[in-house]
Amino acid sequence: MNTKSWESMKNFVEQHEVLTDSLWILGERDDSGAHSELHHGGFIPQIPRQAILRFTHPYETVIDCFSGYGTTLIECRRWGRHGFGVELDRKIHGIAQSRIEEEPNRYEVKTMLVRGNSASFDIRGRLEEEGLGEASLAVLHPPYHDIIKYGVDEENLCNATSLSDFRNRYGAVVENVGRALKPGGYLELVIGDKYGNGEWVPLGFQLMEETVKRGFKLKSICVKNIENTMAKRSQIHLWRYRALKSGFYFFKHEYVMFFRK
Ligand SMILES: C[S@@+](CC[C@H](N)C(=O)[O-])C[C@H]1O[C@@H](n2cnc3c(N)ncnc32)[C@H](O)[C@@H]1O
Repeated sequence: MNTKSWESMKNFVEQHEVLTDSLWILGERDDSGAHSELHHGGFIPQIPRQAILRFTHPYETVIDCFSGYGTTLIECRRWGRHGFGVELDRKIHGIAQSRIEEEPNRYEVKTMLVRGNSASFDIRGRLEEEGLGEASLAVLHPPYHDIIKYGVDEENLCNATSLSDFRNRYGAVVENVGRALKPGGYLELVIGDKYGNGEWVPLGFQLMEETVKRGFKLKSICVKNIENTMAKRSQIHLWRYRALKSGFYFFKHEYVMFFRK
């Protein structure tokens, strides 16, 4: 890399606070514009933003297989990337649709949100029909198994009947989205662990294994802080008491893992 291109990359990284180390201490949630409303179970916009800025160029395509309230698609519009999202739950899909429309489309990119199951929806076919070709980045923020109910649909990963069912269904989504990613494209997995029957269940490492099993190369495991929500903050003493009494640590981190096709 010559001095000029190093300088411009350095400026870009500094201007947009692009992270390059694996410990992500993210500040307050960005609640500007279409992000203003907070929805339970959504991630903070800085998570997809980091990946969009590092691993895609303007007018490239980003897929979100668990679109939720549309955070990634809003970021795609904001940064001039085509965005394609899949969300299974009708109500959440509707909320996401109106949030996305609130975001100005300055760069005139395509933003598409479909309702369906990301394990079976023909993502590749739809991108081709839209003239978008293969995507550069896939963002995957699945339910953390059954800890939040995102709806009653059997196909929703939050209703997986067991851990192995959850892993297999996640794996099917990875296979499907893998077909729509270009060679060398990135996959960002955002996942936290859970407790079950008094035991720590390492969902993060389990889904990492499922991703690698499907031919993706692990590039990084980043650890991000969990900001306390107002509800949790007011219960901090209760959580500390429970943790001390039962010999566990309460969750202050999640994983943001990066893989390459
Ligand atoms: C953790 S949330 C994602 C939140 C999102 N990142 C946001 O900021 O709003 C997971 C989402 O995946 C959806 N989901 C679960 N199983 C799905 C499936 N098989 N296909 C598509 N969406 C699914 C859930 O309904 C839920 O909205």
